[in-house]
Amino acid sequence: MHTIDKKSTKKAWAQALAQPAKEFPLTQLQILAGKIPEDLRGTLYRNGPGRLERGGMSVGHWFDGDGAILAVHFNSPEEGATAVYRYVHTDGYEEETAADKLLYGNYGMTAPEPIWNRWLKPLKNSANTSVLALPDKLLALWEADNPHALDLQTLNTLGKDDLGALKNRWPYSAHPKIDPKTGYIFNFGISIGLNGILNIYKSDSTGKIQQKTSFELDGFPLIHDFVLARQYLVFFVSPLRLNALPVLTGFGCYGDSFEWKPQLGTQVLVFNRETLSLVSRGETEPWFQWHFGNGYVDDSGLIVVDVVRYEDFQTNEYLRQVATGETHNSVVSTLWQIHLDPSIGKVKAIEEIIDHNCEFPVVPPQERGQYTNQTYLSMHRQGVDTSKEIFGAIAVSTTKPTPLQLLTVAKIAILVNLFMPKIPKILSKDGSSQLCTMAILIVVKFGYMMRIG
Ligand SMILES: [Fe+2]
Repeated sequence: MHTIDKKSTKKAWAQALAQPAKEFPLTQLQILAGKIPEDLRGTLYRNGPGRLERGGMSVGHWFDGDGAILAVHFNSPEEGATAVYRYVHTDGYEEETAADKLLYGNYGMTAPEPIWNRWLKPLKNSANTSVLALPDKLLALWEADNPHALDLQTLNTLGKDDLGALKNRWPYSAHPKIDPKTGYIFNFGISIGLNGILNIYKSDSTGKIQQKTSFELDGFPLIHDFVLARQYLVFFVSPLRLNALPVLTGFGCYGDSFEWKPQLGTQVLVFNRETLSLVSRGETEPWFQWHFGNGYVDDSGLIVVDVVRYEDFQTNEYLRQVATGETHNSVVSTLWQIHLDPSIGKVKAIEEIIDHNCEFPVVPPQERGQYTNQTYLSMHRQGVDTSKEIFGAIAVSTTKPTPLQLLTVAKIAILVNLFMPKIPKILSKDGSSQLCTMAILIVVKFGYMMRIG
């Protein structure tokens, strides 16, 4: 007999999280509609938390799920598209699989052990945040440790990778920036000292680190993304600081130990991307951001940056709720544009340019760091309860006064990272990339099917 839980307000997207995603081997994809353009070649990689439960215990936050990567290989027209889906087989993943229970702490949970056993236990590297496709390997990125390398075709895990210069457990964050003209790859990671240490890396197109620098931060902030704007690298440090005591003593996890301190304002750090030296530092009004759109330098020498802004860190609680399959509170995130004088680190103007909830701003990779007039965004479908739904539409924002255009809306549930109609970044086997101008819908949880149109 079926019973109905009238209290449940779970939406369709929650189905995608209800059970751990299952790996599948290389599989021919069935085209449900449309056809694959003949000149589309290469592989689309997506990473995200695929397992949020083990042995009947749920993880503490969406960020804690084990990373699982989908690769969609676009082959010749005769061969069509194939896909493979694999977890990143980190040491922690293998240990927990063998034990059939969660063993480690993570961003949003302490280790499920007596407190005295937590003190020296490292976090599990979840390898779940994004990917970087290099010519000879795929990196699964996570912002509190080294990346993991995987085979580009089979997604077999090869092990942790130091890119030639990373110290053990030094982070290599999840949003590296590739300069489209030189192929240089810029990234950062925050390591632990008396304060947080911002380590900035410059790699050649193979990923090998050629140059690095370190900069001591004020306390332990959370920095998830940064900006490449022509000759500059720009960091906006939101007024969020880790209270390290509960984390160090094992009484609390990172996700519960950040404190919002708006009185600190947002710190602005501008670096020269050739020398990696600090150009200027400044301060502006408080906000929190996960992601930036693009950055460029305008004719007057000002850096122009697009950023999805939040009023505070409530987004953290919302993302924790996502892992439960049920969200209860809205979070407002809108697109803003900042004009910054790099010589003195002073923000000259801030303007909200899209007042609809949005996230994941994406620009054509060949225009990164330079002026572009198009930014693609994940947005809510029109008319939905934004406290209950996650992003279900894709929009493109172009130069004013062109209105925002919704490009595609999913008829069924969408989950960012597992299942979303997003203008994808297509990475070719030689490491170059292009934006595909189609909407691609990939369902991972319920089989393997693909719609192109
Ligand atoms: Fe991100």
